[in-house]
Amino acid sequence: MANPSIYHATATAPVNIAVIKYWGKASTKLNTPTNSSLSVTLSQDDLRTITTASCSASFESDALWLNGAPHDVNNARSQACFAELRALRQAKEDKDSSLPPLSTYKLHLISENNFPTAAGLASSAAGFAAFVRAIADLYELDESPTELSRIARQGSGSACRSLFGGYVAWEKGSREDGHDSLAVQVAPESHWPTMRAAVLVISDAKKGVSSTTGMQATVATSSLFPNRANVVVPARMEAMKKAIAEKDFETFAELTMADSNSFHAVCLDTIPPIFYMNDTSRAAVRVVEEINRSAGKKVAAYTFDAGPNAVIYYDEANQDIVLGTLKKATAATPGWSDKYAHIAAAVPEGFNEVFLEPLAGGVSRVILTGVGSGPLKVPKEDALIDEQGNPRP
Ligand code: DP6
Repeated sequence: MANPSIYHATATAPVNIAVIKYWGKASTKLNTPTNSSLSVTLSQDDLRTITTASCSASFESDALWLNGAPHDVNNARSQACFAELRALRQAKEDKDSSLPPLSTYKLHLISENNFPTAAGLASSAAGFAAFVRAIADLYELDESPTELSRIARQGSGSACRSLFGGYVAWEKGSREDGHDSLAVQVAPESHWPTMRAAVLVISDAKKGVSSTTGMQATVATSSLFPNRANVVVPARMEAMKKAIAEKDFETFAELTMADSNSFHAVCLDTIPPIFYMNDTSRAAVRVVEEINRSAGKKVAAYTFDAGPNAVIYYDEANQDIVLGTLKKATAATPGWSDKYAHIAAAVPEGFNEVFLEPLAGGVSRVILTGVGSGPLKVPKEDALIDEQGNPRP
């Protein structure tokens, strides 16, 4: 970098897909949830956000570019993250006057996803996690990922879970000020490295009702919702932690599918009702149920976020059955790279093939990935900025 007065750091952050869903805010101001949630972090080889955070006395305003286009940062969420990170940096500078006063400089953030934004693929989670991680690295903060998760949560709830790899819980907390509403790692990716995920991209269009709006409507109007938040989810959180500790895929699958269905049920129970799943999503449910029925045990688990895309978890041990069936339905779809050439497009014995056709036409891409690591540091020379602190061409 020719201009020495531009400071910068770059980090990547992963997507996470919840198996026990966050849906409902206890406080919209603090962005605290009505229930705890738990997710699997997906590999950054396939899905990640990379963000360069830079600051300089020469920058005139805070700015953000996402996939090359300028984005507003004057929203309450981004501002809350900036303010908290600057306060932590300021505290460091107060203790050590030899440090450059980065907390007083404007920030330029340049961010790129390797997957479609707002497709229900948790882009806000990876986005805010990378945003917070990159600024924390720029400011040389010593805070732990759990402490940083408190900040990322204010950007987007699910983002707090993307500060870790592996299996991650967001504990809702009980304090009025939200201070104990934090993410913790339940198990690292090395504990259960054979967890795989097949993402069926059913639509990469921007979603209709945003999670933020949808969940507030659910909390306000669904009569099923209090039972989900107060009774069903707390029990499932404990059962899910145990299933992960024991690498018990059948229980993991049962809980994952039940919780996705419960989440979409409270959406349907919202007034007016919210529909995220479509006919192709339901076809994916039927295919997974039929795989499990014909296999005689649960070898695959579907889950859907606030959009129609299916995420299907499976253990590598059952790759031939699960991917074989998905390949049979979607072999012509982009995403079946050479890496999967050895998987025979075949269904398990006794599988009723009538379920395949409704899925076949509706999937635009498959992303075959697995459990992965938390945010990673990127070397200085790979920063996304040019010498003026703008996006590198
Ligand atoms: C269905 O984290 O996007 O993906 O906090 O309002 O930004 P905000 O919501 P967001 O909601 C995610 C909802 C979900 C379930 C989950 O990831 O747990």
